Amino acid sequence: MLSSPLLVSLTLLLSLPLLFLLSQHLHLLTPPDADDLALFRRAGWAPHTTSHLSATPKIAFLFLTNSNLSFSPLWHKFLEGQTHLFNIYIHADPTQPITPPDPPLPRSIFIPSKPTARAHPSLISAARRLLAKALLHDPRNHYSPLLSQHCIPLFSLPFTHSFLLSHPHHSFIEILSHDPNLHARYLARGGPRAMLPQLPFSSFRVGSQFFVLTRRHARLVLRDVSLWDKFRRPCPSDDPCYPEEHYFPTLLSMLDPHACTGFTLTRVNWTGSWDGPPHLYTAPEISPELLHRLRHSNSSHVYLFARKFAPECLPPLMDIADDVIFRNSTIGHYFLLSLI
Ligand SMILES: *[C@@H]1O[C@H](CO)[C@@H](O)[C@H](O)[C@H]1NC(C)=O
Ligand SMILES: *[C@@H]1O[C@H](CO)[C@@H](O)[C@H](O)[C@H]1NC(C)=O
Ligand SMILES: *[C@@H]1O[C@H](CO)[C@@H](O)[C@H](O)[C@H]1NC(C)=O
Ligand SMILES: *[C@@H]1O[C@H](CO)[C@@H](O)[C@H](O)[C@H]1NC(C)=O
Repeated sequence: MLSSPLLVSLTLLLSLPLLFLLSQHLHLLTPPDADDLALFRRAGWAPHTTSHLSATPKIAFLFLTNSNLSFSPLWHKFLEGQTHLFNIYIHADPTQPITPPDPPLPRSIFIPSKPTARAHPSLISAARRLLAKALLHDPRNHYSPLLSQHCIPLFSLPFTHSFLLSHPHHSFIEILSHDPNLHARYLARGGPRAMLPQLPFSSFRVGSQFFVLTRRHARLVLRDVSLWDKFRRPCPSDDPCYPEEHYFPTLLSMLDPHACTGFTLTRVNWTGSWDGPPHLYTAPEISPELLHRLRHSNSSHVYLFARKFAPECLPPLMDIADDVIFRNSTIGHYFLLSLI
C-alpha cells in the first residue's frame, strides 16, 4: 500500500508536466513580448506617405486567421492583374495546422505570428502586428482592411480601390456608444477600478473588429501605449469580454473621431444571435440576390466585404464571381450611391 506522503509526491510529480503545459499556453497568450514592443515602436514612427510618392496608394489587406484561407481562389480572382494596387499580410496562428494557399496569393507575406484566441487580447496584438508590418513594409500602403478567413469581397478590386480612394482621410470603423451590453462589458474588463483614469465609462466604445484604417490612424494606434496597456491584460472574469471589439473603436473615438466614419465596410448578419457568433452562411444560401443584398447598408456607403462564410461556400461563390461580384456594369450606380 502507498503511504500518503508518497502518494502526495507522486501526484505532484504527475501533475508537473500538466502545469508546465498550462503555463506554456498561458505564457504564449500573454502579450507583450519585447519583439512586439520593438516592432510597434518602430511602426508608430514609420514614414507618412509623402507627396513625392506620386504613385497610386495601395490597399494593405490584413488577414488574421487561425485556419486555412479557404477562399484564396476567390481572392486570387479579385486580385488578378492588379498587383500595383495592393499588398497582403497574413497573421496565421502558429499552433494551428494551416496550409498556405497554393499558389500563394500575389504580393502576400506571412508575418511572424503568435497564438490567438477569440475574446482575448491576443487578437488585438495580432491586428497591431499586421498594421505594423504594413506600415514598415511599403510607404504606399494607405488603407488597411482587417479581414478573416471567413470574409469575402463584394466588389471588384478596381471598385474597392476607387471607393477607398474617394475617402482618403477617413477610417471606416464602427464606433457605438449606446450598445445595451456596453456597461456590462465595461465591468467585465474590470470596471472603473481597472480602467480609470485613462478610460472612464463615458469614453468606452464598441464596434466590429473588422475595420479599414488609414495609414495615419494605423500610426496613431501603434503609438498608443496607455490604452493598450489597459486592453492587453486578459479579462479578469468569465463574463463576456471581447477586448478586440473595444480597443480600436475606443481609441480612435478618443483620438480622432471626426476622421472616422463610425461605420464598418464589412457586412455581417447578427439576426438570431445574442452576444454569440454571427450567422454562418452555408452553400445553399449563396445566390446573386444574397450578394446584392449584402452590399446595401442603411448608411450612405455600401459594404465592400462580408462575413462569415463556411468554406463549403467556395464553389457556388466561384460560379457567380464573374457575373455578380466582379461585374462592372452595376458599379457606376453603387459608386454614385457611395458619394451621396
Ligand atoms: C488545412 O488544410 C490541410 C490540408 O488540406 C488540413 O490537413 C488541415 O487540417 C487544415 N487546417 C485546419 C486548421 O483546418
Ligand atoms: C440572416 O440570417 C438569418 C438566419 O439567422 C437568415 O434567415 C437571413 O436570411 C439572413 N439575412 C441575410 C440578409 O442574409
Ligand atoms: C436597416 O435598418 C432596418 C430597420 O431598422 C433593419 O431591419 C435592417 O436590418 C438594416 N439593414 C442593415 C444592412 O443594417
Ligand atoms: C472592370 O473594370 C476594370 C477597370 O476599371 C477592368 O480592368 C476589368 O477588366 C473589368 N472587369 C470586367 C469583368 O469587365
